[in-house]
Amino acid sequence: MKMDRARSDPWQTEEEAESDAVSAVLAGREKHRKNLIPILQEIQHKLGYLSEAAMEAVAEHLSISHSEVYGVASFYNQFRFHPPGKHQIKVCLGTACHVAGGGIILENFERKLGVKAGETTADREFSVERVACVGCCALAPVAVVDEAVEAHIAPSRIEGIFLGFQRQKEQQEKEVREGELSS
Ligand code: FES
Repeated sequence: MKMDRARSDPWQTEEEAESDAVSAVLAGREKHRKNLIPILQEIQHKLGYLSEAAMEAVAEHLSISHSEVYGVASFYNQFRFHPPGKHQIKVCLGTACHVAGGGIILENFERKLGVKAGETTADREFSVERVACVGCCALAPVAVVDEAVEAHIAPSRIEGIFLGFQRQKEQQEKEVREGELSS
């Protein structure tokens, strides 16, 4: 869940909303190191990622160093350190997809978006990440774009995916303009 969608007070900045959410999580957890992973999981559930400020707050709460918090979080694939994009691209690098060229697919998405796996574009439109087997190895290589499975994806398909997003955006903008004109 992204905080900008969850913000109940429209005057609150995204940083303030995130800080409140982190404080609420920490208030409910004992200051014990064994709570580190459950705390990180809960924060990620609320924010959609672990921000630097959130990890600082966790470190302070548990009286451990920021680098220890980051070290533990970065050990697990489940944690992300950038806010998720509006559109999420997951490239499978499980064994079957890796053998079928999943790494090349990931490189192509990274090049197209100008970000690395685990990152989000500056406009927060797209994030790209590598994932383990998504359960349809017969379709390798596979990418999951939002909820849609792209089977036997080839590098040449990638332009088409972004063209689809572009058309979708243009259509939405057109509908908004028409709505404004008719009101
Ligand atoms: S390895 Fe990619 S779907 Fe199984």
